[in-house]
Amino acid sequence: MSRRKKPHPLIALQEERVFMRSDLRHKSSFVRQLGVGIGLLLLLVAPKDAAQNLAVATTPPMGWNSWNHFAGKIDDATVRAQANAMVSSGMRDAGYVYINIDDTWQAERDAQGVIQANSRFPDMKALADYVHAKGLKLGIYSSPGPKTCAGFAGSYGHEKQDAQTYAAWGIDYLKYDLCSFGKIMEAAGSPEAAHKLMLDAYAKMHIALQQTGRPMVYSLCQYGADAVWHWGALVGGNSWRTTGDISDKYSSMTQIGFGQAGLAKYAGPGHWNDPDMLEVGNGGMNLEEYRTHMSLWALLAAPLLAGNDLSTMRPETIALLTNREVIAIDQDPLGQQADRVWAEGTQEIWARLLADGSKAIGIFNRFDWPQDIEFSFREFGFKGGVKGRDIWAAKDLGTLPNNYRVRVPSHGVVLLRVSE
Ligand code: GLA
Repeated sequence: MSRRKKPHPLIALQEERVFMRSDLRHKSSFVRQLGVGIGLLLLLVAPKDAAQNLAVATTPPMGWNSWNHFAGKIDDATVRAQANAMVSSGMRDAGYVYINIDDTWQAERDAQGVIQANSRFPDMKALADYVHAKGLKLGIYSSPGPKTCAGFAGSYGHEKQDAQTYAAWGIDYLKYDLCSFGKIMEAAGSPEAAHKLMLDAYAKMHIALQQTGRPMVYSLCQYGADAVWHWGALVGGNSWRTTGDISDKYSSMTQIGFGQAGLAKYAGPGHWNDPDMLEVGNGGMNLEEYRTHMSLWALLAAPLLAGNDLSTMRPETIALLTNREVIAIDQDPLGQQADRVWAEGTQEIWARLLADGSKAIGIFNRFDWPQDIEFSFREFGFKGGVKGRDIWAAKDLGTLPNNYRVRVPSHGVVLLRVSE
C-alpha cells in the first residue's frame, strides 16, 4: 500500500503559493503574513525538520572562513594548513569547529549538471575527510544566482543537485550569497515580487539541504537587505548577514558592530544575526581595536568566524581569538544577544543577560584618546552592590560601587561580567 508522503511545509508553501498575494502592496504586511503562514506550517507539519535545523546552531557557529584573508587565492593545501593550525593553535579546543571555503572553489558543471570543484580543489571529498579526521567540519559557499559574487558558477536551477553534491562530499555548512540573484530580482517587476523571489530562493535551498538528510548550517548572506532578521529564520537560516562586507579597518568594524542596535530580539538558539566575519589578526587594527572587535562580536552573539591566516598567527592574535571567558559570553546557552544600553557621543555601553543570571557589559571608548567612562549599575537592573570581573584583565574586582568610573583606552573596551 503506498501512501503519499506529506510535502515539506516550505515546498507546500511554494507549490500552493499561499504566501503570494498579488494584491499585497506593503512589504511589512507581506512579511507579516509570510511569517504567520510559514511559522504556522512549520509548527504544524515539521517539528522534526525544524529541530534538526536548530540543532546545528544552538549557539553561534564558530570557525574560520577563507575570504577575508585569502579571497580568490584559496586552495586545498591552504585549507588543510588552516585546519592543522586550528588544532595546533588551540582554537579547536576553544570551540572553533568550521573550516569554511568561501567563493572561487567552483569549476563549471559536467554534462549532467553536477557542479565540479576547480583544479585548486582536486578532491573535495578527500578534503572533507581530512578536516573531519581532525575533529573539525567543512563549509562551502554558493549563490542562489547563476554566478557567485566573484563570477563563479552559482546554484541557480541546480539547487537540489548542489545540495546532494555537498552532502556526498561531506559538507557541514553552506554560506549562500545573493550576488547575481539581485539581477533576477531587478527583472521581477515590483519590489514585492523581487522580495518574494528572494525568499523563495532561500527557502528552496533550505529544503534541498533538508532533503539530503545531512545536517548543515545554513548561512544566509544578502547584506541585510529587506530586514532579513524578520524572515531569515522562516526560510531556514541558521544565521543571516545583517550588513555589507567588513574590511580590516576600525571604521568598518565599528560601523558594523555598533550598527547592530535593535536587532537583539531577532536572534536566539538556532538563528543568529551575523555582522560578518572576524578581521582579528589581519593587521589593519591595533590590539585595542581587535579587542573591541572580539568583545562586541561576543556580546552580539555573533558567529565567530576567524578571517585571518591561522598558520601564521602571533601569540597576541591567538590570545584574542581563544580567550575562554570571551567565548563563553558569545556561546552563552541563553543566546540572548546584547543591545546598546547607553550612549553619549563616543562612549557606548552594551550589555547582555547570561544564563547564570549575570550580565556581560562592554564599556566602549570610540574616541581617539583614553577616556574615563562613568555609569551606574542601576542602569542594568542591579539594585544592590554588584560583584564584577574584568574579563580581558582576567581579574576579579570584588564588590563594585553602584556608581562606577572606569578608564577605557582609545578605541578600546572594558569588558565586565557582573552579578548581584
Ligand atoms: C560577498 C560576500 C563576502 C564574500 C564575497 C565572495 O561580497 O558578502 O563575504 O563571500 O562575496 O565573493
